[in-house]
Amino acid sequence: MQIHLYDHAEQVGQAAATLIAAQVISKPDSVLGLATGSTPIPTYQALIKMYRDGVLDFSKVRTFNLDEYCKLPIDHECSYHSFMREQLFDHINLPLDHTRVPNGNAENLQEEGANYDMAISRAGGIDIQVLGIGRNGHIGFNEPANAFVYGCHVVNLTQSTIEANRRFFDSEDDVPRQAISLGIGSIMNARKVLLLATGEDKAQAIRDAIYGDINPKTQASILRTHPDVIFLLDKAAAGLL
Ligand code: PGA
Repeated sequence: MQIHLYDHAEQVGQAAATLIAAQVISKPDSVLGLATGSTPIPTYQALIKMYRDGVLDFSKVRTFNLDEYCKLPIDHECSYHSFMREQLFDHINLPLDHTRVPNGNAENLQEEGANYDMAISRAGGIDIQVLGIGRNGHIGFNEPANAFVYGCHVVNLTQSTIEANRRFFDSEDDVPRQAISLGIGSIMNARKVLLLATGEDKAQAIRDAIYGDINPKTQASILRTHPDVIFLLDKAAAGLL
């Protein structure tokens, strides 16, 4: 496990984008596992810049996102489908039919989860998985629990996550209560994992993930058993290490 510290969130984004760029340059048909939330935005901006500068070609890349809200129309401004288009997909030459985000509106969500995991396997597995971390230590929407769940599944969001995500919606009542998320097994199967954390509200989760027990109460703690994981942290997120 590697831990890299940076002064600012922008540098975390630059570093993550550099590692993703190296992956895409060395394997143009790479499979990227992507995350939403505020944390990866500087990474996506840096990738867009590298594309515009002619350094990166995404035409053969395929992507799988970590998660999506349930029962939120995909064109809703707060859906992760919309987020990805706005923050990355609409600005690079990645064919939209090479991108996948779980369908939180599927009639049978269990089947959607199984199909999603199968699609990742068929694509050859994820080469590099980008993760943020929740204030409660979640990765994807794998919330604190008594067990790690292997596959893509439906999750009941915790109050802490609902409150954290409330900032994107008109009111807390509008935040969906359920999501569909890659499981810990699907995340751990990625060949390389980048965990990004910025800001002091992530400091406790980062401390628990790195120094606490490996325990599903802090889902990110399992990453310490991954053979190729890099934590990219700004000073504030590393403040309790
Ligand atoms: P954030 O979300 O990047 O918006 O803080 C991260 C997460 O909840 O995984």
